[in-house]
Amino acid sequence: MEPKGKVVIVTGASSGIGEATAREFGRAGAKVVLAARRVDRLEALAKEIVGMGAEAFVVAADLSKLEDIQTLVKQTLDKFGRIDVLVNNAGFGRLDWLENLDPVKDIEAQFSVNVMGVIQTTRQVLPVMIKQRGGAVINMCSMAGLVATPTYTVYAASKHAVHGFSEALRREVKPWGIDVSLIYPGGVVTEFASHAGIKRKTNATTPKSMLLTAEQVGQAVVKLVRRPRAMWILPWAWTVSVWLNRFANWLVDYTTITRFTIPEREDELKVRR
Ligand SMILES: NC(=O)c1ccc[n+]([C@@H]2O[C@H](COP(=O)([O-])OP(=O)(O)OC[C@H]3O[C@@H](n4cnc5c(N)ncnc54)[C@H](OP(=O)(O)O)[C@@H]3O)[C@@H](O)[C@H]2O)c1
Repeated sequence: MEPKGKVVIVTGASSGIGEATAREFGRAGAKVVLAARRVDRLEALAKEIVGMGAEAFVVAADLSKLEDIQTLVKQTLDKFGRIDVLVNNAGFGRLDWLENLDPVKDIEAQFSVNVMGVIQTTRQVLPVMIKQRGGAVINMCSMAGLVATPTYTVYAASKHAVHGFSEALRREVKPWGIDVSLIYPGGVVTEFASHAGIKRKTNATTPKSMLLTAEQVGQAVVKLVRRPRAMWILPWAWTVSVWLNRFANWLVDYTTITRFTIPEREDELKVRR
């Protein structure tokens, strides 16, 4: 599908990957619907997209609320009459040891946006695409949806859920001409880390050479509209860790436990002994 003139909903368009993705669709001449909670940021981005000669429409939506999702779809249809592309991007992570995560604010909240938000938004958009006999759904997964590492328990569970949901959906909706693509970025430089509550004792982090910009991921999303793919791991080199995790998970266990978990928890382990 060529994005020019197509109606594209981008959730979580107020920052990071979603913002960059919406901008790329604007550059490609799409009619971009921008959804998130921080409306001031969406309005500023909408102005920028209109300045590029494309169309933009802002909808305030908390993706953890079904009524907001229903409003998002209704307002999009009232404005443009159709929906060609849905980018389920809104999401966040709270990265800490499981026992430190708040049962509601961290655990339930991550599932409400990362999993239920994706499922319910797709569920609302699907009848429109089925009626049109075509469309593209692009779900923002993560490397954590394939390889789960310490402090990522709940976030990884949410992204594994997105993986399973999307795989089944892809096989369910293809006969209607609807393509479901999944993208699995590794580390991306966005506001994600500032909301994640990361506390590190060691300097364990994604190597700089493996970090992506939000623009790189946004460009990849637009490519997925032109050429859908079941899975796209970014950067490609992370594929090695996926294979290792599958066929030598003892090695991944050993490495993460000795290089990350034990050094990070050394003081606590001493106290508990
Ligand atoms: N950064 C990474 O390293 C990385 C790697 C792989 C995958 N991802 C995934 O990429 C997606 C975007 O993350 P990002 O890195 O771009 O982080 P970000 O800059 O923090 O952006 C997150 C976006 O999600 C929106 N959002 C969060 N909760 C929401 C809610 N309840 N309702 C509506 N929108 C909500 C935020 O908008 P408001 O706060 O304005 O509502 C914001 O626009 C997420 O799904 C994340 O899991 C990120």
